[in-house]
Amino acid sequence: MVDLSVDLAGITLKNPLILASGIMGVSASSLKYVEENGAGAVTLKSIGPKDREGHHNPTVFAWGEGVANSVGLSNPGVEVALAMIKESMDRLSVPLIVSIFADKAENFVRVADKIMPLKPLVIEVNLSCPNTEDEFGKMFSLDLGAAERVVSMVRTVCDRSTKIFAKLTPEATDFTTIGKAVENAGADGITAINTVLSSIIDPYMGCPILNNKIGGISGRAIKPVGIEAVYNLYKTVKVPIIGTGGITTGEDAIEYIMAGATALGVGSAIYYRGIDVFQKIAKEMKDFMEKMGYKTITEMRGMAHRS
Ligand SMILES: Cc1cc2nc3c(=O)[nH]c(=O)nc-3n(C[C@H](O)[C@H](O)[C@H](O)COP(=O)(O)O)c2cc1C
Repeated sequence: MVDLSVDLAGITLKNPLILASGIMGVSASSLKYVEENGAGAVTLKSIGPKDREGHHNPTVFAWGEGVANSVGLSNPGVEVALAMIKESMDRLSVPLIVSIFADKAENFVRVADKIMPLKPLVIEVNLSCPNTEDEFGKMFSLDLGAAERVVSMVRTVCDRSTKIFAKLTPEATDFTTIGKAVENAGADGITAINTVLSSIIDPYMGCPILNNKIGGISGRAIKPVGIEAVYNLYKTVKVPIIGTGGITTGEDAIEYIMAGATALGVGSAIYYRGIDVFQKIAKEMKDFMEKMGYKTITEMRGMAHRS
């Protein structure tokens, strides 16, 4: 009998498939719907210090190999989001991951501090947003010092019963060093990866398709980037990794586990395969494991490092 359950930083998931932040995770009802379709855990769309409209349409464009988006972190702000987070916690049977972002380190702390009375199991710190205190508005996770500072400051307001996952962009040249730094700063886990900067131009219109011109690419196009990130992180950190980026089938999921992931973020695959993609991927993982004679996820974790 194949067992898909995993232990993620002390939290048991019935399967390793987690709804990634930003796709569907905007209300208790949408999160519940994802749970009913087989996810082992769900992540909220990132919540910031105050409400943000985000960029103007078009903000999401699905093309053959990926999904380009420039949603621009639209969210209602933490004060308004609290009721929705509470309702989600009350209604969900699977763990809820609360994703947060901010424009400066102090505001990450403000957001986390407001959420902490709800006792979230996991806060995911989205470090792939611009740091307004940096001269060039560089993403927090491109800057070792800034990433480390945010995680250590958020740690001061989160007791150990709330796990902190730091979400990183793969675009940092010193990606694994940043992974090590956030682990040392108190992160209980790392989510890798966020979207990859990109642009798509319509040759007939002669202009970028997204209104914001530049966006982030997700989906199948970035799977090898995510695998490389997880493979190298696994060699560098001891904390568990939520491998994310382009997971669309059971075999994609197994690849990430073999690279070293403990759990798996699934987002864009919903666009390709529908909301029941979690059930579909779980079944495909089981079929693969039965065929290959694996009984648990742990047996396969990091396997690619042994060959
Ligand atoms: C439309 C859209 C919105 C997203 N919004 C967020 C967000 O608010 N916070 C975040 O950390 N990641 C966000 N992401 C990134 C995803 O969580 C994920 O890291 C990325 O899409 C790669 O996974 P995928 O290929 O399975 O989609 C967003 C992705 C998409 C496609």
